[in-house]
Amino acid sequence: MSDHGQQRTPVLLLEKVAKLYEGCPPVQVLHDIDLTVSQGELIAVVGPSGSGKSTLLSLVGTLDRPTSGRIHLEGHDLTGLSDRQVAALRARRIGFVFQQFFLLPGLTTVENVAAGLLYTGVAAGQRRERAESALRDVGLAHRLGHRPDQLSGGEKQRVAIARALVGRPGLLLADEPTGALDAVSGKGVIDLLLELNAQGTTVVVITHDRDLAASLPRRIGLHDGRIAFDMSDSDVHAAGNVEQGSPS
Ligand SMILES: Nc1ncnc2c1ncn2[C@@H]1O[C@H](COP(=O)(O)OP(=O)(O)O)[C@@H](O)[C@H]1O
Ligand SMILES: [Mg+2]
Repeated sequence: MSDHGQQRTPVLLLEKVAKLYEGCPPVQVLHDIDLTVSQGELIAVVGPSGSGKSTLLSLVGTLDRPTSGRIHLEGHDLTGLSDRQVAALRARRIGFVFQQFFLLPGLTTVENVAAGLLYTGVAAGQRRERAESALRDVGLAHRLGHRPDQLSGGEKQRVAIARALVGRPGLLLADEPTGALDAVSGKGVIDLLLELNAQGTTVVVITHDRDLAASLPRRIGLHDGRIAFDMSDSDVHAAGNVEQGSPS
């Protein structure tokens, strides 16, 4: 077994989480998910289409609530929090990146990124400055006044990453962030996620890219709404299958 997160409060702790979508017929999308994510981890979530990856990400990202089970985010049991309290926690602690970017078409890049600071308590006057700084960090200082339709796919995703980061969240959740990008732009986006992780951000990324998944230190596989595998390089080290690197 792995020893993720025993030393300090985990970023995420899921206990017997299940999700049922009501409907005709109802769909049991997730069953019995137990999961611990520690601060600073970098995790790939893989699995066939329809296996529940996006649903899992929306639950841990507090965009939706489980039908049963408990989710703790940085020690807060979400079950006991009101929607308003959950929204406040989300705004301050979680950044999202999606395959489809979800930029607001009428706004410039800097306005789109500044929108990521709404509900975080950052004063209006500081939002623009912070947004410009986040855009510099993703290499888009020269595109501050562009609108989404004037940007390439890779640039749009970098704007979306800047928006996700501008509030300095501890947890970044990305749902197939390179799914709509060509290989070169995709690599740029992944490099950016790796850099953020190196700076301390916990990153969970859903991906269909096998090479990318294989390159990340922990891989979680979903199948039919259950965790089919959860593999860490540290587990491999502990099992003595890798010659170099010390057991953690
Ligand atoms: N809002 C919803 N209502 C009903 N069923 C849904 C809803 N969202 C997703 N599903 C179903 O849940 C299953 C898992 O979906 P999803 O989490 O998007 O999978 P993945 O991201 O792994 O492709 C699919 O069968 C999908 O049709
Ligand atoms: Mg999905």
